Formats: sequence, structure tokens, C-alpha cells
Amino acid sequence: MSSIGQILRASSAIAFTALVMTGVAAAAPAKAKAPAGDAVAGATIFQGRCSACHGAGAIGTGAAPSLKGVYGRKAGAGSAAAKPFNYSPALKASGLGWDEASLNTFLTGPQKVVPGSRMFLPVANPVERQNVIAYLYTLKP
Ligand code: HEC
Repeated sequence: MSSIGQILRASSAIAFTALVMTGVAAAAPAKAKAPAGDAVAGATIFQGRCSACHGAGAIGTGAAPSLKGVYGRKAGAGSAAAKPFNYSPALKASGLGWDEASLNTFLTGPQKVVPGSRMFLPVANPVERQNVIAYLYTLKP
């Protein structure tokens, strides 16, 4: 017969595990510096303005590369987890690597920064740009 004692022991074991896991998460060293900005607001912008062309997972739309894992990779390199995308020679030759600063410049005016790129849609508002970059950072490879 299961007693109150057993139930209490079981639930305190769960609580203890949760406590340990919280401790581990808090102690984990910070990885690449997270960009400033509101990733949740950025997700809404992505849905509204980017997702018609860009996927964010393994399945791309075919119109544009998947932005899964874009943060930290080379421009025009594509996601190893997604179907290869046929990038413009201009973007592949740009020598850019995607981080907070380069995404910020690129998204200000993609075809000004990389003439010949097929990505033309700017995010003119700096706060919105920062938020969308914060969202892109969450799309792990
Ligand atoms: C009309 C379609 C379209 C829309 C909308 C669009 N993009 Fe793009 N984007 C592209 C294409 C096409 C490329 C590849 C460009 C090339 O090969 O020159 C690209 C490339 C990119 C890249 C570089 C990817 C890489 O792997 O190097 C980033 C970052 C990017 N877009 C971000 C965005 C964001 C953020 C939005 C929304 C604010 C957006 N794009 C909206 C078509 C689009």
C-alpha cells in the first residue's frame, strides 16, 4: 500500500531534481553573446515579413534559404540541416559572417551592403531590426 510518506519522498525527489537542474542552467557559461532586442517581438516580425520567403526550420520555402542557424555562419553558406539553397554569387562572395553587427548592417539595406544579392527587403526601423536579429539568434543550427 502506498503511504503518504512514499508520496512525499517521491515528490521531494522531483523537487530536488528540479532544483539541481535549475542550478546547472544558472551555472552554464554564456555562449556567443546574445544580441540585445526582444526575440518574441522579433518572431512576430519574422512571421509577418520574412516567412513568406524564409523558413526557420529544416524545410525551406524554396524562395529563400532557411534561416535556421543563420547566426554565426558565413553568408551564403546555407543550413546543413536544410535543403541547399542556390545563393547569388554576390552573397556567397561577400565574405560576410552573420553576427549582430553584420546582420544589422545587412538588414538596413541588403542590396546596398551586398550589391547583386537577391535579398532586397530592408528592416528600416532600428528597434524592429534589433528584435528580428534577437529572434534569428534563437534559431539554433
Ligand atoms: C521576397 C523574399 C524574401 C523576403 C520577404 C525576405 N528575404 Fe531574406 N533572403 C531572400 C533571398 C532570395 C535570399 C538569398 C539572397 C542571395 O542569394 O543573394 C535572402 C537572404 C537572407 C539572409 C542571408 C542568409 C544566408 O544564409 O546567408 C538573411 C540573414 C535574410 N535574408 C534575412 C531576412 C529577414 C530577417 C527578412 C524579414 C525581415 C527577410 N530576409 C525577408 C529573400 C527574402
